[in-house]
Amino acid sequence: MTNTVVLTAPDSIAEADFRTTLDFRARIDRLRRERNAVILAHYYQAGEIQDLADFVGDSLDLSRKAAATNADVIVFCGVRFMGEVAKILAPSRTVLIPDAEAGCSLEESCRPEVFRHFRQRHPDHIAVTYINCSAAVKALSDVIVTSSNAEAIIRQLPEDKPILFAPDRYLGAYLQKKTGRAMTLWPGTCIVHEQFSERELIKLKARHPGALVAAHPECPASILSHADHIGSTRAMLEFVIEAKGKEFIIATEQHIIHQMNKAAPDKIFIPLPGADGGCNCSRCPFMARNTLEKVYLSLLNNAPRIELPEPIRLAALKPLEKMLEMSASLPLALTSPLLSPSAAQTDAC
Ligand code: 13P
Ligand code: SF4
Repeated sequence: MTNTVVLTAPDSIAEADFRTTLDFRARIDRLRRERNAVILAHYYQAGEIQDLADFVGDSLDLSRKAAATNADVIVFCGVRFMGEVAKILAPSRTVLIPDAEAGCSLEESCRPEVFRHFRQRHPDHIAVTYINCSAAVKALSDVIVTSSNAEAIIRQLPEDKPILFAPDRYLGAYLQKKTGRAMTLWPGTCIVHEQFSERELIKLKARHPGALVAAHPECPASILSHADHIGSTRAMLEFVIEAKGKEFIIATEQHIIHQMNKAAPDKIFIPLPGADGGCNCSRCPFMARNTLEKVYLSLLNNAPRIELPEPIRLAALKPLEKMLEMSASLPLALTSPLLSPSAAQTDAC
């Protein structure tokens, strides 16, 4: 964790029967009403957390929701950098995260002091930075992108300007290929996507010859080369809802399949395994730190809470606002007319 964020741990586990008989869902509902709180969840959260959230989305949609909410409290069920984004965009709100240690391998790969040197070594470059980074790294960037809007934003940048892209080298390489832009890439990776195995993917395709492959652009090129669709978590969800196929191999964190099953219950979703043929590699250990119990405790204790030094917040706000401006024409959340009412929960907050 960088020194850019101050997080206070829960004061206490307030009730003795905490682990046994509590109906966490009912208690969370009561507390969220009392505190005027909104619960935002990323598609990589456990199904039971997605099901209690007011809004489930990808990184871009969650940022937009956080910026627009009228709630006094935002409980951000994702990882720490997502909570930071909510605080940067909505400083007057209390932003809670269920677990203060929910980091991200991309964020960890990119220390602000090293990133500062990287920028200094390339003074003529535009720093386009993936949202999966700390507030301090955002503060040193020109524009932030997510996997939903990166291509559209890069295409708007002056063509004669070279680009520094951090911290995901696979997403950077994918964008470089798509846009033809000159980019210097930071060598970070997502520990979930980099472990997918091309060999296992080929075996799965042989066993399911009709299956379509949907992949997240954080995957290495060897995986992306087999994909029928490449996109953010929201774009992957839209693809499987709308595509004619019956079976889909899913090359991203496997909890998005919860939302796919809800939106398209007659289709079959197969998580892509890692090199050992097992599925554990497609679970993000950082996202998995959040539990229903911790969501409840965060509301009960008003902690862990995201706090940022104001100079860092203001400096990080600029490239985030630029991102929102430059992607204003992109659709707001899920737009598929085929969405079932259970999956179309986008305007609850
Ligand atoms: P998106 O939801 O923007 O596709 O991001 C995926 C991810 O890895 C979040 O940590
Ligand atoms: Fe970070 Fe990868 Fe986990 Fe997303 S899935 S939070 S990029 S480690």
